Amino acid sequence: MNILLLGSGGREHALAWKIAQSKHCTNLFIAPGNAGTTECGKNINIGVNDFEAIKKFAVDNNIEMIVVGPEDPLVNGIYDALKKDNSTKDIIVIGPSAYGAQLEGSKAFSKKFMQRHNIPTAAYAEFTKDNFEEGKQYIQQHSLPVVLKADGLAAGKGVVIAATTADAWKAFEEMIINQQFGEASSKVVIEQFLDGIELSVFVLTDGKDYKIIGHAKDYKRIGVGDTGLNTGGMGCVSPLPFLTDAFLQKIETKIISPTIDGLQKENIVYNGFVFFGLIKMGDEPYVIEYNCRMGDPETEVVMPRLKNDIVELFLAMHSNMLKDAVIAFDARACATVVAVSGGYPGDYEKGKLISFYPPPEELGEATIIFHAGTKINETGNVETNGGRVLAVTSFGSNIADAVQLSKNALNHIYFEGMYFRSDIGYEF
Ligand code: AMP
Ligand code: GLY
Repeated sequence: MNILLLGSGGREHALAWKIAQSKHCTNLFIAPGNAGTTECGKNINIGVNDFEAIKKFAVDNNIEMIVVGPEDPLVNGIYDALKKDNSTKDIIVIGPSAYGAQLEGSKAFSKKFMQRHNIPTAAYAEFTKDNFEEGKQYIQQHSLPVVLKADGLAAGKGVVIAATTADAWKAFEEMIINQQFGEASSKVVIEQFLDGIELSVFVLTDGKDYKIIGHAKDYKRIGVGDTGLNTGGMGCVSPLPFLTDAFLQKIETKIISPTIDGLQKENIVYNGFVFFGLIKMGDEPYVIEYNCRMGDPETEVVMPRLKNDIVELFLAMHSNMLKDAVIAFDARACATVVAVSGGYPGDYEKGKLISFYPPPEELGEATIIFHAGTKINETGNVETNGGRVLAVTSFGSNIADAVQLSKNALNHIYFEGMYFRSDIGYEF
């Protein structure tokens, strides 16, 4: 079948790499893609939110499946737009309806959903400018640190963990009064700080059944030792030694099953990934957030470890046969280390030539270079085109070995200003 994948990050290169290996994939198109995805299929110059152009391309090219990488088009309703148009309604869409995508698109929506279904999460309250003063009082009596979250999508920047009441007030005012994130911060969720180890678990679901397709731990801070500003993610490792069968069972019983049951009970149309952002406090799991798509860079370890044909899983999901699927994982440890542009996550320059020594094809089977912010320039060379530039994934007998292989590969890659964290997976 002909498949269209939407997006242009490292996540999409990893998805493209996986989809291209499927026996069901005839032609793969990636819109808009990056320099790396050209190795897996054909890049198409269409933006992920240009629904009319996507529909036209799909019709003209006999696309039978559309896999949506990022959250934006999902929250903006790409699923619904495709389904309500006669010419595209039969295309299999991997991604939830706009309503289902509210699990990520609105923090207040997801908190209420968790409350309705008794899913463990931090205690919270929500505020708008109409009860701003009440919000300030709520902050004043709150334990510290206190967590403030812009309700809507804020490109990963909408969460503030405030150590003092004054800082929290300032952040609250920035969001609500000064509209720091526009409409996205017109409502703010204020919640309890959960102290523990973060992990992410990924499922594929048809809204009734689900399969866990992987898990990972992401390193969000820019600096060694988890210091400095938050980023989109500087590296990932999987599997996690602390995620025992017993703890995973607890996550399924207390969090994943009630979430999928909740989708079904509320008739929420959901055919796609759920990314459970979790925190392990003591021996108990809590939800920090839901995302309605795969993670980046988590996908760069989850897809390589997943042994199944991913398109076969998508087809099983589509025909409500997920419960019969048997998921298999590569037993090796896997790590990805992200190379970023100098200055990221602040301002950075684009257009830096990237040199690969040795060439990627000489790296060996254990290492895969996924591209994120890259593009092929007019002279046919690969240059930087974003903050996160490459995600170098390796397999190893343990996490430390896998990270070391990725760092070895990165030592043969160069672009001006390139930086990567040397301590991904340091705890393991
Ligand atoms: P989010 O955008 O919801 O993923 O939040 C970004 C990051 O903020 C998370 O990955 C956590 O590191 C942190 N965070 C969010 N909520 C909490 C919380 N309630 N307690 C502790 N850390 C949190
Ligand atoms: N790595 C975190 C995310 O994809 O949201």
